[in-house]
Amino acid sequence: MPRWAAHPLPRRSLLKAGAAGLALPTAAWSQHKPDITLRFSHVVAEETPKGLAAERFKVLVAQRSGGRVGVQVYPNAQLYGDHDEMRALQLGAVDLVAPSLSKFGRIGLPEFELFDLPFLFDDLAAVRRITQGALGQKLLKGLTHQGLEGLGFFDNGFKQMSANRPLLEPKDFVGLRMRVQASRVIAAQMRALGAVPVTLAFSETRQALASGVVDGTENPISNFWTQAMHEVQTDVSLTDHGYLGYAVVTNQRFWQSLQRADRELIAQALQEALAFANQIADTQNDQALQALRQAGNINVHQLTTVQRNRLRLAVQPVQQAFVNRMGSGWTQALQMAMRESRN
Ligand code: LMR
Repeated sequence: MPRWAAHPLPRRSLLKAGAAGLALPTAAWSQHKPDITLRFSHVVAEETPKGLAAERFKVLVAQRSGGRVGVQVYPNAQLYGDHDEMRALQLGAVDLVAPSLSKFGRIGLPEFELFDLPFLFDDLAAVRRITQGALGQKLLKGLTHQGLEGLGFFDNGFKQMSANRPLLEPKDFVGLRMRVQASRVIAAQMRALGAVPVTLAFSETRQALASGVVDGTENPISNFWTQAMHEVQTDVSLTDHGYLGYAVVTNQRFWQSLQRADRELIAQALQEALAFANQIADTQNDQALQALRQAGNINVHQLTTVQRNRLRLAVQPVQQAFVNRMGSGWTQALQMAMRESRN
């Protein structure tokens, strides 16, 4: 029997620190049937930074509105997956989604893919200086052209590579079919490494790895662990080569239909939930890595500086390809914002 067959429900929970942080008191509001219910759909497990942020948001909204406004969270692509969640939002079938920034190209906003440029950010503080500054605001504003309203950014963390072999140097990637999100930048990154990118929905990834449709993938460890991808991959290599973050998006028509006071209450609760996600993103990934090591059925590889530099060098053309496609405006704005934030 293949190793994964013993676990028909692969998702793993762990992440007690995040869960403990959720312990907000429940009260009378929990008895009420809300007047307004926001449907929040996402594709990852509840014990990830995104899942925990959604739950915290739900509790804060209920508390502050005295139960009048409710949030119904649908995790794990239960309702909609990568292929249809944006469309569902535009049609009003759900009210909130939080796709990764890599998934906005498919709705005509490829500038969001600048966050996918490999080896761009040294740490999450550098990312936040962009997402919380003028450039972040400009990106969110672009959503209005699609009938959407961007309510904020938040982090998961840095991505690692997995396959059934160590991925330490460019030569290790050659010929591998690597699952990627629907981002042309990530696809170009895999091609630059000699791999073949295969775009698949997140919810299809574990099965595709298990059945050999793809050979490997990339994700922060919290996603890797909560989908039990370690049961269908033998090696994870700690490349820290790229960033994974999200934007919370609502439907403009729905947003404008709310009373101003409710919009403010919801926006405030969301900002607090996203700040919470940012606080726990690193620790969630650290804990997931610890759990992965303890599970013992996967080899975890730390790259040397020389190996990481070889990967960095190999993916350098990706940046130029982005500039060729998008014009230099976005990367110049990015570089300027990064320079300013260093001063
Ligand atoms: C992925 O598709 O790999 C991620 O974007 C999933 C997520 O939402 O974290």
